[in-house]
Amino acid sequence: MTPARRQTAPGTAVLSRKAVAAAVPVALAAVLAATTPASAGTVGAAGAGDPYFPLQGNGGYDVRHYDLRLGYDTSTGRLTARAVLSALATRRLGRFDLDLSGLKVTGVSVDHAKASFRRRGQELVVTPRHALHAGRRFQVTVDYQGKPGPVTDPDGSTDGWIPTDDGAFVANEPQGAMTWFPANSHPLDKALYDITITVPEGRTAVSGGVLVSRRTRGGHTTFHWRQSAPTAAYLVTATIGRFKVERYTTPDGLEVYNAVDPREAAAAAPVLRKLPSVLAWESARFGPYPFRAAGAVVDRAPQVGYALETQTRPLYDRAPDLATLVHESAHQWFGDSVTLTRWQDIWLNEGFATYAEWLYSEQHGGRTAQQAFDALYARPAGDDLWAYPPANPGSGARLFDTPVYARGAMALQRLRVTVGDATFLRVLRTWAQDHRHGHGTTDQFIRLSERLSGKKLDRLFHTWIGTAGKPAKP
Ligand code: ARG
Ligand code: ZN
Repeated sequence: MTPARRQTAPGTAVLSRKAVAAAVPVALAAVLAATTPASAGTVGAAGAGDPYFPLQGNGGYDVRHYDLRLGYDTSTGRLTARAVLSALATRRLGRFDLDLSGLKVTGVSVDHAKASFRRRGQELVVTPRHALHAGRRFQVTVDYQGKPGPVTDPDGSTDGWIPTDDGAFVANEPQGAMTWFPANSHPLDKALYDITITVPEGRTAVSGGVLVSRRTRGGHTTFHWRQSAPTAAYLVTATIGRFKVERYTTPDGLEVYNAVDPREAAAAAPVLRKLPSVLAWESARFGPYPFRAAGAVVDRAPQVGYALETQTRPLYDRAPDLATLVHESAHQWFGDSVTLTRWQDIWLNEGFATYAEWLYSEQHGGRTAQQAFDALYARPAGDDLWAYPPANPGSGARLFDTPVYARGAMALQRLRVTVGDATFLRVLRTWAQDHRHGHGTTDQFIRLSERLSGKKLDRLFHTWIGTAGKPAKP
């Protein structure tokens, strides 16, 4: 599923905004030229045109649904899998790519007819027996197996299939999806998921959405998870371990499923207990929670070093503190439901989730958002906080750095002070509502803020998200 008004080059709209434009690299054309073969008559592009991850995603089709059937042997670390993708050709396609890194592909078929394929780095290049005409719905089946492992990101962190002492911690932001399933893995293409995972009896396999069934037979347990809201590939998981499971329905009707590593249970319990009240508090500020299911996976995987806002069921590499729970929960609105169209816009995720932490603290007897802003503003001009603009980190190596999180949140505090509390909250709610289960760009956020406040905000956003260096005292 791609956004209705999908642009050929995602995010070009921002280029038209003078204020922010100055900060935007114009490498897009070069990247598109590099990823779209000149002879592209019937060939789907190898990438979605994102300068930060040029090979992520693919052109020429749009995935509607993934049916992933995985078997994982926790003693050997072997994965045996079949992926069935239901997709729509957006142009005539004689050949197309999927993203898949490592593993061994044993067969590919398109609409049940054997297709030829070859591997080329992270691209699985598929040639169906007959070209697919534009507008045609088709199914691709990929059989594959092997020992999955993580990918190392440009910032040195790892994501993807990360084996643990009792299973695997599976986190895909920004590019780990390709380490365990073939996909159109750019966030532009959201899809629905059915994920069936078979593990040795005694282990639990957790994904997003609701648990459709759980069956044990012959020493193995199969978990069938269904995610029925559009989901970006980086927000999908299949985390496996020895977990204590807790299930309940909240007064608001949300189905909660928490899976907790027993070694983390004591520390996690007091924080997880607050999940319903955190979601209710966020719903009161940001609008209705976008999904039916909720919960958490608390693993013991300290080598990971981060938590992730996996859709409906965030992943924690250890027992989270309350601020982290608030942060990952806020991402359900900002990032998961409203998804970026290019990685450069990452502040729309991290700046917003960080701001949610500030607001939560303010309204629960802690530091106010303005105090958080002031403490950051006190940092000297040479501090990393000012090293680059949140809306233009410059490369995939800087997606998760301080400017994106902290200065991104500072920009929202400036917006709040400038337009007033009521309008500010109306902007956040309208943003979540208008782009629910879809996508949003920085440019659209600026325009919405201007429209609802009746103020010209180009300069504010230029100063706080569009330029490097410490801004003058507001
Ligand atoms: N989005 C995560 C958060 O909530 C951070 C993910 C970091 N991922 C990485 N590969 N470093 O802050
Ligand atoms: Zn975050």
